[in-house]
Amino acid sequence: MSTEKKGFLARHGQLERNVTLLAVFAFIAVIFGGIIEIAPLFWIDNTIEKVKGVRPYTPLEQAGRDIYIREGCYLCHSQMIRPFRDEVERYGHYSLAAESMYDHPFQWGSERTGPDLARVGGKYSDAWHVQHLSDPRSVVPESIMPPYAFMRDRPLDAGDMRAELKALKITGVPYTADDIAKANDDLKAQATDTPGDLAIRYPKAQNRDFDGQPDRLTEMDALIAYLQVLGTMVDVESAAAQEQLAKETGR
Ligand code: HEC
Repeated sequence: MSTEKKGFLARHGQLERNVTLLAVFAFIAVIFGGIIEIAPLFWIDNTIEKVKGVRPYTPLEQAGRDIYIREGCYLCHSQMIRPFRDEVERYGHYSLAAESMYDHPFQWGSERTGPDLARVGGKYSDAWHVQHLSDPRSVVPESIMPPYAFMRDRPLDAGDMRAELKALKITGVPYTADDIAKANDDLKAQATDTPGDLAIRYPKAQNRDFDGQPDRLTEMDALIAYLQVLGTMVDVESAAAQEQLAKETGR
């Protein structure tokens, strides 16, 4: 061994025997590693890749989402399909990060007493949802889901949706000034056959009477509008194919 190396080893020995010195150097090493991991995040705009089709919720869908949260549906239902074969076969294509990028708060969930709902949109008719939510056991005899029949009778009282959209905008949901100004009108228009220019602000927004009571706007209308949009915004097969291509070509 050269004398130079001996000297270096001796000094390393000093470091190992002195707790304070070791702590200081360990701290420096951790800071250095931490900066290398964290710093790049300051220079990229977003950690979520944008995917075509994802749009903010319409006021009616958002109001339905608020009811979903109020009623604690998330206690039994998750909204995140994991990329495992059993999940994909049962619920459909695994969830993409971008699909919940405008969810505040997100509804991924940690408990599944009932099935995952991330792609329940379009799986059933509105009438099925009305029946199921009013009396789950009338359509699924073994169900343990509670009934929510009262929502058919309760007029939708969503408050001022302009304020809600404004608040969501602060958290990063890209509602435009026009979206916000027309929020209260859009809320009502979506539950009718005459949605005006709703589809310009919210591409592919579904509009109709959702609860089977065309003469009134109820909580049931809002909740079903929300359930019916879940997982339908993105053409997942083509989005996933794009993602794969981007990985393979590095672009
Ligand atoms: C106590 C747990 C529980 C709660 C709370 C609950 N559910 Fe369920 N849900 C279930 C179970 C179990 C099933 C499966 C049996 C059935 O279809 O009823 C289910 C099924 C469903 C389905 C059909 C899913 C499918 O793919 O077949 C929908 C939609 C649904 N629930 C919506 C809701 C909504 C909306 C709420 C809140 C208003 C809610 N659930 C609250 C337990 C729950």
